[in-house]
Amino acid sequence: MSYLIISTSLNPNSKSRLLARETQSLLEKHGKEVQWLDLAETELPPCDGGSCYGHPNVPIVSELIKNAEGILIATPIYNYSCSASAKNLIELTGQNWAGKVVSFLCAAGGPGSYMSIMGLANHLMLDFRSIIVPRFVYAQPKDFVDDAIADDSVRERLDELAQALIRFGTALKD
Ligand SMILES: Cc1cc2nc3c(=O)[nH]c(=O)nc-3n(C[C@H](O)[C@H](O)[C@H](O)COP(=O)(O)O)c2cc1C
Repeated sequence: MSYLIISTSLNPNSKSRLLARETQSLLEKHGKEVQWLDLAETELPPCDGGSCYGHPNVPIVSELIKNAEGILIATPIYNYSCSASAKNLIELTGQNWAGKVVSFLCAAGGPGSYMSIMGLANHLMLDFRSIIVPRFVYAQPKDFVDDAIADDSVRERLDELAQALIRFGTALKD
């Protein structure tokens, strides 16, 4: 089994995608295999609760989720919540999140939305009994310079999260 990173920003200059790519490298440095899913590249239908489930990409992304030992959702903070594309993915893939170890990489416009990811965390716990790692990374514009991660303190936070995800994923395997 491998780890799965899902980048859910549709912005080509996404900052949460930078966090996701860096954390992919960190997980790989820790000897873990990582699968990459970018919703800016993989077309998915809007969830209508019916015909959407027949889209050919839905079983493909469902399998990636089902087979993951741990999952990181990288998301923009939009309107004090995750991106609509992240929510849509969860609506499309439902029970594949059951019991999954999950955490979050968030890019926001300022410090005030720090708690915004809790809605998604609660939703995954209540709907699917996903195991939410009690650590996430919340980055603001000051954490980036010229479309790159600003400094090693951000990398340290990402590495702490990568290691926590591995600890939970390993402990809860099977
Ligand atoms: C529609 C929209 C809503 C936003 N809402 C918030 C918000 O509630 N709180 C916040 O801190 N930033 C907000 N932002 C700023 C984004 O979180 C910020 O630009 C972030 O970098 C987006 O992630 P991305 O670069 O990975 O796409 C919003 C931006 C947009 C476009």
